[in-house]
Amino acid sequence: MKEQLEKIKSLAHEELDKCESLDVLENLRVKFLGKKGELTGILKQMGGLSAEERPVIGQLANKVRSDIEENISARMQALKSELAKKQLEAETLDVTMPGTKQKIGKLHPLTATLNDIKEVFLGMGFEIAEGPEVETDHYCFEALNMPKHHPARDTQDTFYINDNVVLRTQTSSVQIRTMENKKPPIRIISPGRVYRSDTVDATHSPLFHQIEGLVVDKGITMADLNGTLELLMKRIYGEDCQIRLRPHHFPYTEPSAEVDMMCFNCHGAGCPLCKNEGYIELLGAGMVHPKVLEGCGIDPEVYSGFAFGIGLERITMGRYKIGDMRLLYENDMRFLGQF
Ligand code: DAH
Repeated sequence: MKEQLEKIKSLAHEELDKCESLDVLENLRVKFLGKKGELTGILKQMGGLSAEERPVIGQLANKVRSDIEENISARMQALKSELAKKQLEAETLDVTMPGTKQKIGKLHPLTATLNDIKEVFLGMGFEIAEGPEVETDHYCFEALNMPKHHPARDTQDTFYINDNVVLRTQTSSVQIRTMENKKPPIRIISPGRVYRSDTVDATHSPLFHQIEGLVVDKGITMADLNGTLELLMKRIYGEDCQIRLRPHHFPYTEPSAEVDMMCFNCHGAGCPLCKNEGYIELLGAGMVHPKVLEGCGIDPEVYSGFAFGIGLERITMGRYKIGDMRLLYENDMRFLGQF
């Protein structure tokens, strides 16, 4: 019986040493120490021992039991800490790993330029006015002193919805809508889409954007127009930007002017960029025609005003040195991401 106990002890040692999981460990505990286990089996036979032998074997059996118990609990500790270590390793957070980069959007160059232009005018006390893109003949042409035979009213240039309704070809229509609804002093800009029956190329698009400006008050002169536009252009193109007003004709202004900016490339000397002009054309402007004021119920003897129409694409292209207008509409992120 003594040998049997020693054998159980060494067998338990051997198997516990090899044990690699908590489940197997539990099975071993049952096998050696359980009610139907090997040690219990031996103890059951103790009834057949002599009175001298019984305490000796009993003592030995208890020793073997506590030995195996100790062994089991030591193995359990080892397995548990190994398990915890493995789990920690699997869940490790590498704080030095670079994060997932969020793509942050940007304003489209047209939007950015428009925002800057709005900012300049809001700073000068202008309000922002809106008008419809589907416009009547009256607001788009007639009230702007462009009678029926005017060449701009040709179907070659204008999208007609019907005889009386067009897609507006210019934001100048908002001048009329404003003056019909509001009495001077008037100080507005009106940005928006305009449409012309043009074929797409590097400088043309059937849809583009204008920003109309209108100021009507007592004593407004060409000098106010000049000063306002000069300030705008310096803010947009930089303080050394110089503009000039060149005589022109628009039916709704008298006198009328085209406004040019000194070429930023050659500073007026003439180069391929400005086609040897030394200046680059920016926009149309003038003093509001007395007939237009009168048509809107404003007395031209009392009030005067100036107006201008800026092409947003042209200003943006000049500002960012973009050579082809189509790039602004293609929504290619490789292009747009540069600004
Ligand atoms: N409407 C003109 C165009 O589309 C631009 C323009 C010229 C607007 C003179 C004006 C102006 O208000 O006074 O080319």
